[in-house]
Amino acid sequence: MCSSDLAAGLASAFFSAAAVAPVAAAPAAAAAPVEWTGPKYGYGRIATAEEIEGWDRTVRAIDGKGLPPGKGNAEQGEEIFQAKCGVCHGDFGEGTRYLALAGGKGTLATPEPIRTVGSFWPYAPGVFGYIYTSMPFGQAHSLTPDETYSIVAYIMYLNDLFPQDEDLDADKLRAIKMPNRDGFVEPDPRPDTPQPAKGAEPCMKDCRGGKPVVVLSRANDLNLDGAADANKPKPQQ
Ligand code: HEC
Repeated sequence: MCSSDLAAGLASAFFSAAAVAPVAAAPAAAAAPVEWTGPKYGYGRIATAEEIEGWDRTVRAIDGKGLPPGKGNAEQGEEIFQAKCGVCHGDFGEGTRYLALAGGKGTLATPEPIRTVGSFWPYAPGVFGYIYTSMPFGQAHSLTPDETYSIVAYIMYLNDLFPQDEDLDADKLRAIKMPNRDGFVEPDPRPDTPQPAKGAEPCMKDCRGGKPVVVLSRANDLNLDGAADANKPKPQQ
């Protein structure tokens, strides 16, 4: 793998970390491009419906909103996994160069926790969403829905969470209860994590109490404050 492949893979892996969080899924059917009515900065163009569709793989982790139709079982998944994933994750998800995806059950609260899909991940649809958007590393967005269902069935099977010979589909995926589902605490108790006052809703609107929002640093150099529809970046000094 050359370094630009690695960089592309990393970018997509980081990008898709959002798919693990409970973000709102885009509508399944690709909508016609929407005309932008906000301030214009003079960059780029409206993405076409086809381009949006190519990227629109968002699956909401908690309830699986956005899961595509399709199915596959662990036997099919084993073959695909060993061809496309085993080199980095081990043929049985045991971890080689990169993370283990199976095992570690019951280790999280021990001095040597082993964090895998089976031991750590809270929601099964999130596993699908992550793989569908970011794996194989360096070839993100290359898996079809059926391939992804098969691979996820295989990973669930390796973690004793799904039978080997049964087809996995969106409904069955939603029905899998991950062992660590209730292992996450809210609010985040770490002292360096900002928290809203106890019991208060986090501010989502007008949080600066009428004070203007000031754009800092590079965005400012590029005249991206949206104050005027000046469109062009300022010439660099
Ligand atoms: C070239 C090596 C490579 C290949 C091939 C690869 N992965 Fe990964 N995988 C990684 C790396 C690196 C990460 C960590 C990425 C990160 O944290 O941003 C990762 C993370 C993951 C995770 C999240 C694990 C966790 O607990 O955080 C899953 C699930 C996963 N890969 C599944 C797959 C599947 C399924 C395939 C095959 C379709 C695959 N990977 C192919 C390197 C690879």
